[in-house]
Amino acid sequence: MIQADKQTIFITGAASGIGRATAQYFAERDWNVIAADRKPEQDQELAALSNVEQVALDITDLDQIHGVVGDVTGDRHIDVVFNNAGYLLAGPMESFTDQQVLDQVTTNLLGPLRVTQAFIPHFRDRGEGLFINTTSLNALIAAPFMGVYTATKAGLERWSFGLNLELNPFGIRVKTIIPGIVKTNLMSNATLVQGAPYEEHINKFLSALGGPGLLEVASEPEGTAAVVFEAATDGSDRIRYLTDQWAIENVSKTIGLGEEQTQAIGARAMFG
Ligand SMILES: NC(=O)c1ccc[n+]([C@@H]2O[C@H](COP(=O)([O-])OP(=O)(O)OC[C@H]3O[C@@H](n4cnc5c(N)ncnc54)[C@H](OP(=O)(O)O)[C@@H]3O)[C@@H](O)[C@H]2O)c1
Repeated sequence: MIQADKQTIFITGAASGIGRATAQYFAERDWNVIAADRKPEQDQELAALSNVEQVALDITDLDQIHGVVGDVTGDRHIDVVFNNAGYLLAGPMESFTDQQVLDQVTTNLLGPLRVTQAFIPHFRDRGEGLFINTTSLNALIAAPFMGVYTATKAGLERWSFGLNLELNPFGIRVKTIIPGIVKTNLMSNATLVQGAPYEEHINKFLSALGGPGLLEVASEPEGTAAVVFEAATDGSDRIRYLTDQWAIENVSKTIGLGEEQTQAIGARAMFG
């Protein structure tokens, strides 16, 4: 049951990983949580929490976005929208089908844009509100075989900062959180595409991504949730939050460097 005297966060992709952990984290800290995901009925544990309301939302469905946002803003207020839902498309650029590219852009980039657009009037009427958008370390440090994913996350990152300037006069802020590597279902939910000429390279890439090296440095989603909570509650004008040690270490190595040296750091981080 959503209580009027408490702060409320709306979370997309609350079914697993970072979104799920964030829903739990805010609920435990006495926030109202509206947890949006494609199949909310499957998460009985979340449903059992008294301050969590689950709603069905596929962020690629524009009509559903408008219906859900209309419903949740109709009789209550939302303080924070956490645009988190997304997935990874990985493989050689020349092997992707046009539909795979379209699906990636529609989910990872258009989805958050459309959800945000639908909430802006609510925040503007209230004279306050915060959008937190999940981008990725890939938006800052390039990696091979993730170009379309990177394009969506880099686009989301730069769009967020422009929108922040546009909405600040109305008391609305836009922030991004940048995970490096987090133990979630990202890899098992990923669309992985092979391509014969790239086989050796892509296998090396996939074993690096799912292998012991990166798993050792991967952080728990609860750590990311804590950073989302900090972004939601610190009251600061800060706009970008790196969420884990791996992201912080790699970004700190690139400070003051050009793109060529930054690429080399990205390659070393992935492949040793
Ligand atoms: N894990 C990492 O290392 C990492 C690093 C950088 C950035 N990120 C970003 O973090 C965000 C969360 O991912 P995660 O790591 O927590 O992975 P995850 O465990 O796979 O969670 C992704 C969530 O997004 C949902 N989702 C996917 N497509 C959707 C759609 N069309 N409509 C609504 N929900 C949708 C999934 O729902 P279903 O269960 O229905 O598929 C799932 O709940 C993503 O944006 C990802 O790109 C993660």
